[in-house]
Order: sequence, then structure tokens, then C-alpha cells
Amino acid sequence: MEILVDLVSDTATRPTEAMKRAMMAAPLGDEQKGEDPTVRALEERMAALLGCERALFVPSATMGNQIALALHAQAGDEVICHRTAHVLNHEGAGAAMTARAQLHPLDTPRGIFTADDVRRVTRADDPHYPRTRCVVVENTSNGGGGSVWPLATYDAVAEHCRAAGLSLHLDGARLFHASVALAVPVGRLARGADTVQVCFSKGLGCAFGAVLALPASLWPRARRLKQALGGCLRQAGIAAGGMLYALDHHVERLADDHRRARALADGLGGVAGLEVEAVETNLVFFRTRTKAPRDLVAAALADGVRVAAAGPDRLRACLHLDVDDAGVERALRALARAAM
Ligand SMILES: Cc1ncc(COP(=O)(O)O)c(C=O)c1O
Repeated sequence: MEILVDLVSDTATRPTEAMKRAMMAAPLGDEQKGEDPTVRALEERMAALLGCERALFVPSATMGNQIALALHAQAGDEVICHRTAHVLNHEGAGAAMTARAQLHPLDTPRGIFTADDVRRVTRADDPHYPRTRCVVVENTSNGGGGSVWPLATYDAVAEHCRAAGLSLHLDGARLFHASVALAVPVGRLARGADTVQVCFSKGLGCAFGAVLALPASLWPRARRLKQALGGCLRQAGIAAGGMLYALDHHVERLADDHRRARALADGLGGVAGLEVEAVETNLVFFRTRTKAPRDLVAAALADGVRVAAAGPDRLRACLHLDVDDAGVERALRALARAAM
């Protein structure tokens, strides 16, 4: 079955020819020994962009999140996150294995919660309770619908964490999407977070790679955890070269993905039997009234268009670098036929 338009994930992109040239030209060294100049350049640039003292290259966003949780929490601790959070649902229970902490999910609309929501579930100091240690904010919120955290809501959560002595980890796998949607620099969106993970393989078009930005005081432990998890690579500059290229060429264009996501959502909104959620960035979530998501997925696939089932009655289509306007039109026609 030939996939002509792949909306299954924004990780579906492949490096462009220009990105591959940048990767091939990147000066390389042994990253595990701290000798890869391209990785070092990427880390320095991301630390500056995010307003943090240091940044650590990691092969995946998942590893960045897991190192962060292990920095902030340990056995017997509790980490507050949203019920749809990636750290809760899609990291193979990594929090239980690496940090050995338990996660406390909040059930609020669109993946966004307030300082009061955090306050309500923060535990009193009592040996019967786990120790509340850390809050994870996911911006944009994937399961929340690609939603963008309003600055004031985020700032209030950050301020509460600071005042209550809780660590704040920002899962910014799609922080550049939030930045483009709000026209606010990523550094501003990360203000007040102790650690920030940003991913380069979602929409930015890289094959792999993420960074974890953090204070210098956390660097030695983070580096040790990365080694223990097998994340210290050798000539990793081959990836970092593509990541630096993405920073220069693939950030502003995220606005095109957002525009196309709105166009797809508008079109799907006119299809009988489909109910489309609000679109804020590059993710389009919709529900089907006529058939089970997996049947709709199969019917669209037979027409060359791949989308993902994202729950018992929910589907997700992701816009990214490899989908143009013609792709959106084709997807719309296929999904309308599949919904019949
Ligand atoms: C919000 C969020 N965080 C983290 C990740 C983990 O990314 P990876 O699977 O590339 O490690 C994802 C993946 O989709 C994500 O959506």
C-alpha cells in the first residue's frame, strides 16, 4: 500500500537534501568524550536560546524527559503531570524505572492546568503520602490537541513551583510550535522551568535528536544518567549538524504547518459524521461518529493517506515538513470518502 500523504505523526519527515549536506559537512569528534564540536555548538546555541546555563544533546525526547525526571525525583516521590502527558502514557513506564517515582495525572481540558490545580494535589508532608517533588508541563500539549499554554497560566504554575519548592520540567518536544503560534521566543516560554527538553524530530525535520537544557549544577548528574542510559554517542555531530540546520531553516516555516492544519480542520469540519477539535498548531484531532477509528484509518490508507487512531473514538492527523497544500487537499478527499 503506497502512502502518498503521511499524517500519522510529525516524526514522519525525512531529512531534506540540504539538511543531509549540512550533516555530511559537520565537523565530528567523540561526543562521549565531549569532543564533538558540532554537538558542542548545538548545546551552546540551545542553552542561549532557552535562557539556561547548559544544554545536553540526547538522542531522543524520551531520554531527555527521563533524565529530567530522574534529576528531580527519586523513589517515593510524586510527579504531577497531565493525564494525557507523554511521560505518563508513552515512555514505557520510564518514570517508574529510571526515577522510580509515581506520576499523578491531572484531568483538565486540553492538557493545560493551573497553579490551583497543582496546589490542590500537592501533598502535605506526611509519611502516608508520596512526596510531591516535580511538575511536568507539556507545551504544546500533544494529547491535549496540540494546544499552546497561555503564557499567564504557565507563569503562574512556574511561580507556584518556585514558591512551593517543586521542580518544573518543561516537555517542550514541540516548544518551537508554541513559540511560532504565540510569536514569543522559546526562551520566554521556558522561563521559570528547571529543565527543558526540546525535540528536533517533530516537525523540524531531523532524523533524531533532542536537547535537555538545565542549570550547570545539574549537568554532572544529567551527563552521568545519559551515560547510564546508553545515550552518550560517538560522532553524534552528524545528527547535531542537521539540528543546527533545522534551527536556521525549519523553525519559521512551522507557521505553514499551522496554516495547513487549520485548512484540514476546516475541511474535515464540513464532513458529515466527523467532529473536529480546535486546532492551535500542527495537530488535528477529530472524532468519528460513523465508524470505529481503526476502520476509518484503514479506509483512508487504502486511498494513500495515513492518519493515526488516537483512542477509542479519536483520530490524529499531523502536519509537517513533508506535507504541502496538495497533500492537504488529497488527505481531505480521502478522509471524507473514508468517513462515509
Ligand atoms: C510531547 C512529547 N514528548 C516527548 C515525545 C518523545 O519523543 P521521542 O519518541 O522522539 O523520544 C513525544 C513524541 O511524540 C511527544 O509528543
